[in-house]
Order: sequence, then structure tokens, then C-alpha cells
Amino acid sequence: METRLQILYLDDEPNDARQVRETLASAGVDCDVLRVETREQFGAAVAQGGFDLILSDIALSSFDGLSALALARQDRPNVPFIFVSGALGEEVAIESLKNGATDYVLKEKLARLAPITRRALREAADQRERTQAEDALRRSHNLLNLTGQMAEVGGWEVDLDTQTLSWTDEVYRVHEVDPATRPSVAEAINFYAPEARPVITAALQAAMDSGTPWDLELPLITATGRPIWVRAQGAAERRAGRVVRLHGVFQDITKRRRAEESLRQRLAELEALHTISAALRVAQTRDEALPILLDETLAALETDAGAIWLYYGDSDELRPAVERGWFQQWGQTPMKPGEGIAGTVLASGHVHHSAEFRSDPLACAMTRAQAPAGWSGACLPIRTDMTTVGVLYVSVPPMRHIAPQQLKLLESLAEMGGAALHRMRLHEETVHHLEQLQALHSIDRVITASMDLRMTLSVLLEHVQTQLRVDATAVLLLNPHSKTLEYASGRGFRTHYAQAVHVRVGEDFAGRAVVERRMVHVTDAATTPADLHLAAMWQREGLAAYFGVPLIAKGQVKGVLEVFHRTPLTPDPLWLDFLETLAGQAAIAIDNAQLFENLQRSNLNLSRAYDATIEGWSRALDLRDKETEGHTQRVTTLTLRLARSMGLSDGALVHVQRGALLHDIGKMGVPDSILLKPGPLSESEWALMRRHPVYAHEMLAPIDYLQPALDIPYCHHEKWDGTGYPRGIRGDQIPMPARIFAVADVWDALRSDRPYRRAWPEAKVLAHIRAQTGQHFDPRVVEAFLAEHGTL
Ligand code: C2E
Ligand code: SIN
Ligand code: SIN
Ligand code: FE
Ligand code: FE
Repeated sequence: METRLQILYLDDEPNDARQVRETLASAGVDCDVLRVETREQFGAAVAQGGFDLILSDIALSSFDGLSALALARQDRPNVPFIFVSGALGEEVAIESLKNGATDYVLKEKLARLAPITRRALREAADQRERTQAEDALRRSHNLLNLTGQMAEVGGWEVDLDTQTLSWTDEVYRVHEVDPATRPSVAEAINFYAPEARPVITAALQAAMDSGTPWDLELPLITATGRPIWVRAQGAAERRAGRVVRLHGVFQDITKRRRAEESLRQRLAELEALHTISAALRVAQTRDEALPILLDETLAALETDAGAIWLYYGDSDELRPAVERGWFQQWGQTPMKPGEGIAGTVLASGHVHHSAEFRSDPLACAMTRAQAPAGWSGACLPIRTDMTTVGVLYVSVPPMRHIAPQQLKLLESLAEMGGAALHRMRLHEETVHHLEQLQALHSIDRVITASMDLRMTLSVLLEHVQTQLRVDATAVLLLNPHSKTLEYASGRGFRTHYAQAVHVRVGEDFAGRAVVERRMVHVTDAATTPADLHLAAMWQREGLAAYFGVPLIAKGQVKGVLEVFHRTPLTPDPLWLDFLETLAGQAAIAIDNAQLFENLQRSNLNLSRAYDATIEGWSRALDLRDKETEGHTQRVTTLTLRLARSMGLSDGALVHVQRGALLHDIGKMGVPDSILLKPGPLSESEWALMRRHPVYAHEMLAPIDYLQPALDIPYCHHEKWDGTGYPRGIRGDQIPMPARIFAVADVWDALRSDRPYRRAWPEAKVLAHIRAQTGQHFDPRVVEAFLAEHGTL
């Protein structure tokens, strides 16, 4: 049983001291806490001493934590000092560590306090030992200088005339050598680690030649083979101008070196966390983020071998994304979940330690063949939300191992990587949606511009292939007389089989799509077509998955749009939606070409195709911030109602609707750390947040079709009195749709829970909107709004 820990706690919140005591007690650390609030009390307590640990808040009403740290460091350098703070930026954290704080704990993560305290106390004990060792050294050194004699403890001498070496008992003990053996100078040098031998030899030589003294810290291997660190000091004694004797002190400093090493390591780790999180915050894509994550992780662990593998749902396999060191030999061979180390970690979500990858029973044959002997390490899951999206491997060279504390660091890094990947996936989806809209638009232009069906279909299929990321695609046209489907256009095939395809209505995949008038899909490699020609085509082309969508225009089936993949496909709903949308376009194109006397294409259908895409996309935007779910839909409905009641034309309403659906698309450019922040935003965070309308403008302006819909995304935070952003325009300068939308958005935002505050009651929201009339809002819009709510 340890004695009760005495803690000095500088804080102006009495409850926190109690919480600290309870937290430590429940972790088995009994303590007494003396709480002080002011500089005077703290100064007096420090002067009096008698405690084992100092805890301090960083921001106090009358005093600040960093000054307290300076004071404590001056008077009580060996007492651990830990910051316990509500809001401690990483910068301040690093700064405080550099100024000598032992560690820091966030109040909301108080559970960390117990392990940190234990470690701090252990390190303090080491530190005391180190100080004592240094004192001992200084004493023996002084003694040596005083007497010119060999010091009793840890001393040695070489008589140059007789070339004899003498050691004191202490030196024998450090070397783990029996005092009966009398080592020679050469043998003594050989105790040093190979890399240290030239250093000590040169020091001896310099002392003999010119009397230069030395003071070195060197690695040594004891007689029993234990690697240790020693401090070797020496000086020359001259007689009659000639060096006749070398003598010095000798000490085992292994403990001190280790303590220093672990302090240094801890700082390096904190700095790594800091750099990596800063770098990940600015990375825009996975391709940018993953190498940063891996390289910084390896640098923090001072090794050069590691890898990140990502899981791909469509093919249900793990593939390497970045590799360093010996992991590079893996090449691109994929792994299945459950297989090998990576697959097991992915499936279980648990960290795997490998004492040696080469002999690890879990490792797959390839790993065992390629890992160099003696390399150990760990494989950690990378998680986003609830799913594991990949694994992080780290390996260290023979004789080293990953310490528990480093494993904690690795876990934080993997967690950070997971969050960054999640954010990036959302970002990439947005970019992908933008590309899809552009694709629809260019198909649209070709349909209008060209009456050549082959040309139109070939443009369409190009987009099908790239947007849906499939290996091959084709359009079959229905010949109503022969009741067969015939090849019209195709892309991505390696053989000529596709061009000779004839499928009877009702048969095989495409024929069934016609009769059933719905999508037919084959997602496993085991199902193959019955028709011999088709079966041969599947085999020669190496096809494994199929989707066929009937092309229906004005109620009539015109043909089938087919997509093929050479590995199994498990598409998500958005992919399927887009396939249907493209099939709709293809049907229109065919219909148009077939009825070339009637060039009137169905504008309505096309708009529907666009709008379906925009809606799907706006749902994806709401998903990013779970708490605003449904917000976009509600705000859009309300805006449309208000716009209609204020007399906007139907033509304008289409654009109002699209603008409202996409109003906060610019928040995609705002990092999660800001968007989902539970509290108020800082000045710099606000600066970023205020850019979201500008981002929206940058994203949407290149799309001709959405230009008339830009008013809302770009101007919805402008205010009637000119105090809004991004441009600070006022009154009629703000486009009408944006003025209408602003009321709807604030209404719905205030009535919903946000990460940064709870929902307001309806009456309070109405009062707010009334109060902001003529300031935030256009009075005419507020009037229409209140009329809607029957509260005018
Ligand atoms: P949002 O949450 O969609 O809010 C849209 C607009 O509704 C706000 O625009 C503001 O005009 C109004 N609004 C929302 N909540 C409140 C509120 O509690 N009080 C008042 N008086 N008005 C409110 P604004 O202020 O330009 O903010 C734009 C976006 O910035 C917000 O969109 C939200 O994503 C973010 N934001 C604003 N304040 C905070 C905050 O304190 N913490 C965090 N994490 N984000 C904030
Ligand atoms: C591989 O060797 O391909 C993966 C590593 C493993 O998990 O064994
Ligand atoms: C970004 O990298 O900040 C954009 C991605 C996102 O926040 O969703
Ligand atoms: Fe906004
Ligand atoms: Fe909004």
C-alpha cells in the first residue's frame, strides 16, 4: 500500500478539486488535495512544500497557469506539474510541455489523470535518482581533483609506464566482471559498444598526447551481454612535462538515459500528434492524407517500415494504399477480410501485435516469406464512425519493440486518420456529384445538337463508364419486328463478341429487363447467360457482374442499357439512381433520334433527371451534420411557399428550389472540427465559416445549368441592413430569393437542435424574427412569413 499522495491543486472551481480526488480514488490512487486559488496562496504552498504533485488549471481569474508553472519549476523542479484544463489548445499544450509541464489532461477526459499521474510520479522518482547520481558524480569528481588520487567509487587509472589498468570495485560491478580478473586497457576498451570504441580510443590518445581531459556518455556491453550506458570521465596527470598517468570516474547512467529518452519520446509523440492533426486538417483528398499519416507515424516511432491498407466494399477486399520499407515488397496483392493479419484486424476491429511478422501464425504466406527476420510491430484498425475502413501497420527493427505508450499514440493516430478519411469521403462524394451533373449536362447538349444516334450513344456510354466506374457498357436496341435486342453501341470490350449480340425478348438478362420493364442485375460470377454466344462472350471477356436497365420512352421499351464489370459489384443506392438517370437520358436520346421529324425533346424529363440528382446530393449534404437532417427539405418547402405567396414566377421557382436544396453546399469546405463544434466559434473559425457562401459560388458557378440557382447559396447570409456576409450587400442589392430564403433558414435553424445549442421554442423564434425585421430581414418577407404563420 502506497502512502497517500499529497496534491497541490491551483484552481478557482471548488467542484473540480473534488472531482479530481474522486477520479484518482476510483483508479486506486488515494490522495489529499490542497486547493489554492491565488498567486499568494500558491506561492506560499510551493515555498512550504510537502506535496508529491502539482495540478493546475491554465486560465484562472486572478492568476495564470503558465506563471504558476514557472514559479513551481523554479522552487520545486522535481515535483511533477500537470495541467488540468477545460479548454487547452494543442499549441498551448505543446508550449506548456516545452516550459517544463509534465503533462496535461482535459477536464472532459479526466479519466486519463490516474495513468498520467502514475507515470509522472515514476518519472519523478527516476529524476530524483538521476539528480542523486549526478551529485554523487560531482562529489567523486571533486574528490578526485582534490586528492589527485583514485576515487573510491567508480574510479580507474592507467599507469602509462607499466601499462596497467586499475578499477575500483564499483567499476567491476558496472562491468559485471569478477574483480579477480585484471582487464588490460585493450580489454577495457572492448567492453564499449563497437560504435563507441573509436570514440574512447581517440579520447585516450588525445589525453596521452596533449593532456586533454574527456567527459563522455557511451554505450557499453557488460560481461553478461547487457547493453548499458556509462559516463566516462578522464584526465591526464603530468610529471616533469610528461603524461604519466590517466585517471577518471566511471558511472552507470543507464537509468538516467532511459528517463531522458522517455521524456524526449513523449514530447516527440505530442509533437507528432500535433503535426499530423494539423496536416490532416488541410489535406483535401485521401491521396494527400494517407502518406502524411503514415510518414509522420513512422517518424514518431523512429522506424521506416509501415503501410496503410484500405478496405474496398465493391470488391470486398483490402488493398495497400501506401507502403514504406519492407512493406513495399507486397505489391498490389489484395487480401480478403478475415484473411491474414490485415484481414483479421479489419474483421475484429482489434489491434494485433506481432512479436515477429515473419513467424506470426496469423500472417499470410506472403508476409511470412517477405518480412525480414526479427521485425516486430502492430497492425491497428482505422475506424470512421462505426466501420473499420482499413488498417495501419507499423513495424520496428530487430531488438526494438513497440512500447505500450507508443501503442497509445498509434491508436490516437489511427483514430485521427479514420476521422480524416470520413471527412474526405464526404468531400469526394461531393466532387463526384458535381461531375455527374456535368456529365448529364454534356449528354444533354449532345442529344440536342446531334441527330446521329450512334454519336449520341457513344458520348452517353463514355459517361456511363467513367461516372459509374464500370469496365464495359453497351446499348442494345429493340427491333420490334424480330422481337430481338441488337447491339447499337458499346465501350470497354476486349473482343468483338458484343457487337454480334442478338438477345430474344424474354431471354437472358437483357431480354428479361424488357419483359419485366425493370432493372435486371447479376452480381456474382457464378451466374452466366444461357445463350451460347453470350456465355462465350462472358467467358472471353472475363465478366463477373451485370446490370441491364430497360430504356423506356413514352411508355415504350426502346432497348436496354447494359453495364458490365469484371469483378463482382455491390453498388450503393446513389450509384443505382444515377444508372437509372442515365438510362432515362439514353431512352430520350433514342426516342429523339427515332422521331427525328419531331425534334422536340422532353424538357420536363430532363429537368427531372437533373433534379433527382440534386436532391440525392442535398440529402448527402445533410448527412454530414446528422443533427440538421431534414433541414434542407423543410427549408426548401417553406422557401417555395413564401416565394409563391410573394408572387415569384414559376420559371423563377425552379431555380429557387435548386438553390435552396444546395444552400449550404459550401459547408463541404468547412472542416468537421468547426462545423460540429459544440460551442461558440473562435474568430478564426468564424472567418472560415463565413467563407461557405463563397465556396458554394466557386463550386456551382462552373455549371451553366445551376447559374440561375446561385442566388441562395451565395447570398443567404447577407442581411437587409448590410451587416451580413460574404459581401455585406444591403436591401434590394440582395437577390429576392436569398432574402426569402434567409427567413426560412433562420426559422428552421433556430427550431432545430444544433451541435452548438439546443432548439429554441417556437414563440422565441417568432419573436427573434420579428425583432430582426429591417435589420437581418427584408420587412416584406417577414410580413409574408408571419401571414403564413397566421400570427400577423
Ligand atoms: P446554421 O446552424 O444552419 O444557422 C443558419 C443561420 O440561422 C445562422 O447564420 C443564423 O443567422 C441563424 N441562427 C442559427 N442559430 C442561431 C442562434 O442560436 N441564434 C441566432 N440569433 N441566430 C441563429 P450564421 O450566424 O451566419 O451562421 C452560419 C453557420 O455557422 C450556421 O449555420 C452554423 O453552421 C455555424 N455556426 C453559427 N454559430 C455557431 C456556433 O456558435 N458554433 C458552431 N459550431 N457553429 C456555428
Ligand atoms: C499480406 O501479406 O498480403 C497482408 C499481411 C497480412 O495480414 O498477413
Ligand atoms: C475539407 O477538406 O475540408 C473538405 C471536406 C469536408 O470538410 O467535408
Ligand atoms: Fe449557410
Ligand atoms: Fe441552412
